[in-house]
Amino acid sequence: MLAERTTRVGTSPTMKVAAEAEKLRRQGVDVVDLGAGEPDFPTPEHVKAAGRAAIDANFTKYTVNAGTEDLRAAICERYRHDYGVEYTAQEVIVSAGGKQALYNAAMTLFGPGDEVVTHSPGWPTIVEQIKLADATPVIVRQSAEDGFALHADAFIAAAGPRTRAFVINSPCNPTGALMAEAEMVKLADFAASRGIWVVLDLCYERLIYEPVPHNLPKVLADRMRERTIVTGSASKAYAMTGWRCGWALGPAKVIAAANAIQSHSTSNVCSITQKAVLAALTGPQDCVTEMLDEYRRRRDLVIARLTADPRIRCVSPAGAFYVFPDLSDLLSPDGLRTSADFAQALLDDVRVALTAGEAFDAPGFVRISYATSVERLEEAARRIAQFVQALDRGERAALARS
Ligand SMILES: Cc1ncc(COP(=O)(O)O)c(C=O)c1O
Repeated sequence: MLAERTTRVGTSPTMKVAAEAEKLRRQGVDVVDLGAGEPDFPTPEHVKAAGRAAIDANFTKYTVNAGTEDLRAAICERYRHDYGVEYTAQEVIVSAGGKQALYNAAMTLFGPGDEVVTHSPGWPTIVEQIKLADATPVIVRQSAEDGFALHADAFIAAAGPRTRAFVINSPCNPTGALMAEAEMVKLADFAASRGIWVVLDLCYERLIYEPVPHNLPKVLADRMRERTIVTGSASKAYAMTGWRCGWALGPAKVIAAANAIQSHSTSNVCSITQKAVLAALTGPQDCVTEMLDEYRRRRDLVIARLTADPRIRCVSPAGAFYVFPDLSDLLSPDGLRTSADFAQALLDDVRVALTAGEAFDAPGFVRISYATSVERLEEAARRIAQFVQALDRGERAALARS
């Protein structure tokens, strides 16, 4: 009944707990939601003001499909300033979020017979987009013991004669890990020698806690500019998830092809959004620093609370706003068998919603978003500790009734 491609795309296992959490909330139940993949902060005032001004100025019509000239120039300027890379307006397309920027890249570059190497634990959309483009995903696994580090050698070992691209997300959702510059140098040298593309998803690029070197765009531009696509987004850095704005930078030919695809699907990003994002990129950046400082405080708090129980092992993330603890020591064949069971029971018993690692191809783990207030995080920690105690005593049923 449905087109064949629908059989290749999975729906996310996160949906179930998220949908149930939402249902409970609508019933007035006090759910602590640690599932959100978006900032809890409001969009900064000056950005909202630019959106309002766009409406008042009747800037409410179609724009150029690839995005307004001034916004594309601002994106180029941002990357020149942040990374020292040079792109022109013909090498940028503005899309409905980093998600569409990545989707355009997949549709433009990947096809039947291609293998595309990406990493796990990782953001599920990347794999699904590869499949939607009729290509085959090849997965390189990272380990918690190693801080989820992304090693070039692992990607190189996974490459074969059909490898078309490496898709890398750094900082990574859900692990918060970064790819080191030296690793990218090695990977880029290999990719350049083999004519393999690198698609770099920098959605969380502004949310890196320590001033560590992370100039991956420059590494790629210096070695293989003609086979590099960099994607970014206003969503996380400027708390603008609902505005829907991301972008891709790459060779003019690819951007022109992405532009053609986008022109026959969604067309330009909302005109009002484009004005707001222009203000975000060109205006004061201290709002980003303020949010980052607050995320750091929350990250440290969550890790301290969780690891008070030695059975919860947790890598401190270098970027993004998730912790990704290993809960396998709390699972057992005759109790909660999987992290998905754990997430469901946690919601049922103490009304804490988080995302099971299964969603990121990492059973045994859960993703906790700390894009929520310190008060709610403290409350979540209290409830999780209560839940684990009941689990230890075999008193879960009592907890659920209490
Ligand atoms: C790793 C990663 N890349 C890209 C995106 C795309 O976000 P947006 O489409 O809101 O820009 C997300 C959103 O969650 C993400 O986690």
